[in-house]
Amino acid sequence: MVGRQQAAGGSRWRGDGGAAAAWWWWWVAVVLGHLVASARAGLLETNPGLAYNFYQKSCPSVDSIVRSVTWAQVAANSTLPARLLRLHFHDCFVKGCDASILLDNAQSEKTAGPNLSVGGYEVIDAIKAQLEQACPGVVSCADILALAARDAVSYQFKASLWQVETGRRDGTVSLASNTGALPSPFAGFAGILQSFQNRGLNLTDLVALSGAHTIGVASCSSVTPRLYQGNATNVDPLLDAAYAKTLMSSCPSSSSSGTVNLDGGTAAKFDSRYFTNVLNKQGTLASDAALTQNAAAAQMVQDLTNPIKFYAAFSMSMKKMGRVEVLTGTSGQIRKQCRQVNSS
Ligand code: HEM
Ligand SMILES: *[C@@H]1O[C@H](CO)[C@@H](O)[C@H](O)[C@H]1NC(C)=O
Ligand SMILES: *[C@@H]1O[C@H](CO)[C@@H](O)[C@H](O)[C@H]1NC(C)=O
Ligand SMILES: *[C@@H]1O[C@H](CO)[C@@H](O)[C@H](O)[C@H]1NC(C)=O
Ligand SMILES: *[C@@H]1O[C@H](CO)[C@@H](O)[C@H](O)[C@H]1NC(C)=O
Repeated sequence: MVGRQQAAGGSRWRGDGGAAAAWWWWWVAVVLGHLVASARAGLLETNPGLAYNFYQKSCPSVDSIVRSVTWAQVAANSTLPARLLRLHFHDCFVKGCDASILLDNAQSEKTAGPNLSVGGYEVIDAIKAQLEQACPGVVSCADILALAARDAVSYQFKASLWQVETGRRDGTVSLASNTGALPSPFAGFAGILQSFQNRGLNLTDLVALSGAHTIGVASCSSVTPRLYQGNATNVDPLLDAAYAKTLMSSCPSSSSSGTVNLDGGTAAKFDSRYFTNVLNKQGTLASDAALTQNAAAAQMVQDLTNPIKFYAAFSMSMKKMGRVEVLTGTSGQIRKQCRQVNSS
């Protein structure tokens, strides 16, 4: 199953011969071994009160419930890994990883401009419903977001691609006006780096986490400013001419409403192809291309074309992103429903 998807993806690092499946499994074992080792060694920042297996006593089935619901939904809908990964990112960047993105109040974060293509809320609801049966009032929606993002992306590997700390609690405020903290795809390198630094993340994290754009899609409106000015063709000099043509065929005018793959090579595969694309001026967003406009970032992009280095770096930076401004201990609450704050 994984072998077939892989072959269809036309990956660079794997041969196309008959031994491909065996090579693939060998490679998965190597990468996962490496990841567990680097995750153990990599606890560099002060831990804000999160832990692996935070729910070991209070809800021992949390990992299996989140994984089984997520995998079942991803099996039926291949757009979900990208949606759930982006959902966790948007949650963490706006008021910290506190599930504020899930709230349905008037003028909530969901109603803001950058919500384009954000989705996966139904998966979180389905997971929460099962967890409330198994261990009522115990597991936070913020932790469900972090776990579901990991499990959705990991589905194609049939193993966990990174470890997730838990123990987050849920916030009670969600305001569209806070979403200005999200980086704009049109900001230059300095603006994007600044938005990461504002969250305590650094250049290494920016480059590694940008690798999330190895899956998923962008709306034409996120790309067409690189292709047209008004109705005249005016291609961004940081964009490869042939790839610009491909983008133009999916988004034929400055007002096109379709979508394009963020990774024009292996769109469905969570691999390091994104970094090869960026080096070849085939990054889809202006913010992807911007990584080549700083020497240190460009060197990291080069390094992360190596899949083993990418998975290790992504794993480390996801852990850091998952710690951004978390509520722990007795702060916040454990929501009963992820879309609304508890009434009492
Ligand atoms: C570096 C700054 C970043 C910028 C400027 C940025 C911007 C964007 C934009 C504009 C889109 C397309 C939205 C649309 O047009 O519908 C997108 C999609 C996406 N982003 Fe980012 N992003 C950034 C970082 C990240 C990070 C850190 C993650 C996760 C760790 C992430 C995960 C994703 C995913 C998975 C998608 C595809 C969503 C889907 O297919 O549903 N992005 N991003
Ligand atoms: C997303 O934001 C747009 C623009 O602010 C808004 O019109 C739309 O209703 C929002 N979508 C959701 C699901 O809230
Ligand atoms: C897949 O999930 C997304 C996000 O929840 C949803 O918008 C879309 O309609 C789903 N597609 C199918 C075929 O169910
Ligand atoms: C970013 O922070 C990590 C630790 O979290 C560190 O290993 C790395 O060297 C830092 N990168 C830069 C460019 O400072
Ligand atoms: C170019 O754009 C303008 C307005 O943006 C529109 O009025 C005009 O019809 C367009 N021309 C073509 C050839 O599409």
